[in-house]
Amino acid sequence: MAIPERFIEELSARCDLVDVVGDYVPLTKKGKDYWGLCPFHNEKTPSFSVSPEKRLFCCFGCGKKGVGSIYFIMEKEGLSFPDAVRFLARRVGMEVPETGEDPGYRRRRERLLELNKQAARFFHSQMEEEAGAEGRAYLYEKRKLSRGIITRFGLGVAPDGWDHLIAAMSALGYEKQDLLEAGLAVKNQNGRIYDRFRNRVMFPIINVRGEVIGFGGRVLDDSTPKYLNSPDTPVYNKSRNLFALNIAKKSKQGRIILTEGYMDTISLHQAGFDCAVASLGTALTQEHAQLIARYAPEAVIAYDGDQAGVTAAQRAIPILEKTGMEVKVLRVTGAKDPDEYLKTYGPEAFAKLIDRSDNHIEYRLGQIQSKYRLEDDGQKVEFLRECAQLVAGLKSPLERDIYGTRCAKLCGVSPEAMAQAVGEERRQRRRTEERRQRRRDLNPAAQLQPKERDLRYENMKSARAEEGVLRLLMLDEGMFRSLGRLKEEDFSSPFLGRVYGLFLERHREGKPVEPELLAGQLTPEQVGRLAEILNHPEGLSHGEEAMRDYIKMIETERAKRREDVDPLLAAREKYLEKKSYGGRSNE
Ligand code: UTP
Ligand code: MN
Repeated sequence: MAIPERFIEELSARCDLVDVVGDYVPLTKKGKDYWGLCPFHNEKTPSFSVSPEKRLFCCFGCGKKGVGSIYFIMEKEGLSFPDAVRFLARRVGMEVPETGEDPGYRRRRERLLELNKQAARFFHSQMEEEAGAEGRAYLYEKRKLSRGIITRFGLGVAPDGWDHLIAAMSALGYEKQDLLEAGLAVKNQNGRIYDRFRNRVMFPIINVRGEVIGFGGRVLDDSTPKYLNSPDTPVYNKSRNLFALNIAKKSKQGRIILTEGYMDTISLHQAGFDCAVASLGTALTQEHAQLIARYAPEAVIAYDGDQAGVTAAQRAIPILEKTGMEVKVLRVTGAKDPDEYLKTYGPEAFAKLIDRSDNHIEYRLGQIQSKYRLEDDGQKVEFLRECAQLVAGLKSPLERDIYGTRCAKLCGVSPEAMAQAVGEERRQRRRTEERRQRRRDLNPAAQLQPKERDLRYENMKSARAEEGVLRLLMLDEGMFRSLGRLKEEDFSSPFLGRVYGLFLERHREGKPVEPELLAGQLTPEQVGRLAEILNHPEGLSHGEEAMRDYIKMIETERAKRREDVDPLLAAREKYLEKKSYGGRSNE
């Protein structure tokens, strides 16, 4: 669980950012910095720079920026802070001293993971054996999978028989008990233990760390159950893992395609959609959604075309929306699922389906409809008004026409009347947007404000000075001596104030003040902001003077805020401040 902070400090000191980034893209030195192709987006000319001195990385193309190796790995590999630490530790061969976790349990987990890996190897190796001939034919001929895709997914075959896997694994030193615990074997009433997966094609389930955590196995004919899945084990939880996310997380397609089935996902990958994942025979959970949201800003639901698929999609939409992702729903028509669709119509047709997948409009129409009783004239009007708002938000005129007409028909008014209502709604929106734009033009500072509320600055003057203070502290720890009485509460920006507080605390405890060590406590946007602050030019030769100016600015602005609230209190504070000037300080 918890990793001691000393270890993280040492690790971050040992992992040179240029080396770590260099594992992903070649970098060349130009002046003080290194340049290369951005590892976060597709590009042909390098716009990605790494500053070894400030431990910053920044892409001038896609705007991705951040501080330090740990944060780089978090973003690049899509890992949490502790997982990124473990990942880097493995890379440099440092053993992570985990605390707060039962070491026996951890060893147990590791043993199960190793066993799963060996089992996956065994199943895959059976593809080349006589015992796997039928399964091999099934995958290649019946399902039309290529050798490349079979290898990428590590597909395999569980031979027919009661204990092929048990035998193979015991040759490697595993007990039947281990296989039971891993869900690879089952025990019948008589106490006999045998292979869970028999005469099936095998789909290993691999987590984002690249560990084999479980399996799905499909029959080769029409018998039931069609699929068998690993049960939940100490290493596998089906509500927290998605099939193929280990591959999809590296996709550059900017979205995740969510399917219901193993085969849908594999077919999509074979057709070039390397961002497809599947929930594993279970309804989508909030944890699944959270996981997906870490890797892409958009989710496209591509469930089966039957009623069950539509219902499941409707259920999944709000779960995904909660994460702030853009959610789209794609409907396969003329085929039962994405796999069949691809086989019948090909990848280009599927790409068109994605493009046409609308902003879950059907779903929202259904939602609106369920709120009103359309036999009632009054409710009819309300219904149409709400529909007009929905339809007015659609980008394509064709869509507006189709859905507008559908709404009109639902309550028996003419399509023209509906179109008129939609037109009026759109005009009104345009006026609002124009007003907003005018206001933005008049206030250019607001345009530079980030989306995250926590990062918006109420008081630009003070915030710039606050940034300056943080920058000086990050560049030179000696600057802590020049802080005087500056307190966290003096900051106008709660975010900058909090970072300042964290800095003070670290300094007081004798810990290094490096922004990258805070990566676990901040959002990506916040780390990006710290990187920006650090990246801003600042001469250290006049550091102390600069610090004095910054502090003066912050205090002046703070005094103004106090006066707004309580002039008397402000006056008293000013007086007290004068009296104790040069007295106690933060050092
Ligand atoms: P489907 O029945 O749609 O299977 O179930 P599929 O993916 O299209 O498979 P093919 O193309 O017939 O081979 C969708 C998903 O539901 C889970 C599996 O994860 C499957 O991929 N499922 C289905 C089970 O877990 N058990 C079952 O018996 C059936
Ligand atoms: Mn299906």
